[in-house]
Amino acid sequence: MGQTIDDSALDILFREARTYSTWKPQPVADQTLRDLYDVLKWAPTSANAAPARFAFLRSKEAKQRLRPALAPGNVDKTMTAPVTVIVGYDMKFYEQVPKLFPQSPGLKQLFESNPQLVEVTAQRNSSLQGAYLILAARALGLDCGPMSGFDNAKVDEEFFAAGKPCFGCDLEFFPEGHVKSNFLCNLGYGDPSPLFPRLPRLPFNEACSFL
Ligand SMILES: Cc1cc2nc3c(=O)[nH]c(=O)nc-3n(C[C@H](O)[C@H](O)[C@H](O)COP(=O)(O)O)c2cc1C
Repeated sequence: MGQTIDDSALDILFREARTYSTWKPQPVADQTLRDLYDVLKWAPTSANAAPARFAFLRSKEAKQRLRPALAPGNVDKTMTAPVTVIVGYDMKFYEQVPKLFPQSPGLKQLFESNPQLVEVTAQRNSSLQGAYLILAARALGLDCGPMSGFDNAKVDEEFFAAGKPCFGCDLEFFPEGHVKSNFLCNLGYGDPSPLFPRLPRLPFNEACSFL
């Protein structure tokens, strides 16, 4: 393609973007969340399998269901965020593979017979899709606060167990009992005033090598 984005876009996506814990009272429209998904869905996953599932918690009721699973330090920032998304992964993502990757008809059966491959593929690619979500959100003017400080088993039981409706979301495709949580991400319009100075990053020579 050879096209590049300009410096200010790199600032928005990376250099000036921060992790937010305090939010402006501005709500996030459902249409913005739909637009967010419609951007992030184009980023790559292995065998185009797209195992991530996203539950957007927007209501007070949905947030209250999440509260008992949160680490104490993550409660206030999550309760005050306009939206919290549970980035999950579908352990039966391979059911969609014939549609999403039709050129390999044997792939569904390969996954069905190899639970370890299912787990590693689902975790790797849903993590990637969660990162795509963060970058797509920033590109659309949203701010993010990703979190792994929570009890995954409690979230899975509350939101994804068999027989539990996905309260506060209209994602009817949520297959009961085989979605697991990966990480959470608060979304909204961040208040920069309480931000502490940016933490350092590893320089090139400590994180990279040329071979
Ligand atoms: C997967 C993931 C999990 C995180 N978990 C938490 C968390 O549980 N609680 C929290 O306060 N911050 C959490 N963070 C935020 C990081 O500490 C933060 O992104 C990092 O220090 C960089 O900050 P900056 O984006 O402002 O430069 C998490 C970030 C990521 C990507």
